[in-house]
Amino acid sequence: MAGGNGSVPDRNLALELVRVTEAAALGCARWIGRGDKEAADQGAVDAMRAMLDTVTMAGVVVIGEGEKDKAPMLFNGEEVGNGEPPEVDVAVDPLEGTRLTSVGQPNAIAVIAVAERGTMFFPGAAVYMDKIAAGAEIAGAISIDASPQDNVRRAAELKGGKPTDITVVVLDRERNQKLIDGLRDVGAKVNLITDGDVAPAIAAARQGSTVDLMMGIGGTPEGVIAAAAVKCLGGAVQGRLWPRDDDERAKLIEAGYDPDRVLTTDDLVGGENIFVAATGVTDGALLNGVRFSKDGAVTDSIVMRSRSGTVRRVEAYHHLEKLSRLSGREYR
Ligand code: FBP
Repeated sequence: MAGGNGSVPDRNLALELVRVTEAAALGCARWIGRGDKEAADQGAVDAMRAMLDTVTMAGVVVIGEGEKDKAPMLFNGEEVGNGEPPEVDVAVDPLEGTRLTSVGQPNAIAVIAVAERGTMFFPGAAVYMDKIAAGAEIAGAISIDASPQDNVRRAAELKGGKPTDITVVVLDRERNQKLIDGLRDVGAKVNLITDGDVAPAIAAARQGSTVDLMMGIGGTPEGVIAAAAVKCLGGAVQGRLWPRDDDERAKLIEAGYDPDRVLTTDDLVGGENIFVAATGVTDGALLNGVRFSKDGAVTDSIVMRSRSGTVRRVEAYHHLEKLSRLSGREYR
């Protein structure tokens, strides 16, 4: 990938990528609270896909909307970008939190991550992964092999506080109940969420946020995207694939995966020049959602790059009528 020579600052792709996540967020924001998660997702996918080809990169989607026969756009293996260097792997979640959006709940985001070609973990048929994500301050304390109690105690020690000071976000699922019990047992504040574990994982790594840890079994693709962001912000993600039954376990082994292996941040995204952009769809711990005014909309995004460590917050005003005229697409 094109890089700096030590003295000349090079191009920050994330500054182009933020237009892609802004477009996706605008594409689905009118579906907030309308009870139709498919339409919301479609709006985000269509808008993201249209904007992606304006980005100067030769991208291949590693984390996308699924396999080609099921996903007409942004399918795994699809080439995106204008085809010019750099050659990159691309992970997209045009709408992370489809249900959250449809019922008007917090923490839905549009997100994209890009890294050097061949450096992103391909989740294949591994739907779920056990995950733990933390920011730089407590990254050294966490281990996916340790009990929830020990993880919280160590995190509290490193923060110079008590276990009761530690906030842990967990997806509210039956499969996470043992974890939830363990966390409550040690006195952690357990913030149960119905969907969307990417934003809280990023929030855990973001300095000054109200989230200390994101833990529990959630989507594998979401774990890869979270790892890309955490690599930019500092911190750590650990994961372990979580096959749902023996059959799935056998299939994963046959496909070359080791379900017992602990996947580190670097295993999930091995690149050193990673770019991530995310835009809020609904309000959340990480970002504000899209806000509409008479003729426009305001988006709130975070833009980051691992090599430089720069993290930007981008507030953008979009004039919807002008955008529609310019792009030939309907912005409303
Ligand atoms: P969507 O793809 O529908 O937006 O759902 C996202 C999500 O909630 C992730 O954040 C999470 O990792 C995963 O789904 C959990 O999967 P499940 O709902 O099957 O438990």
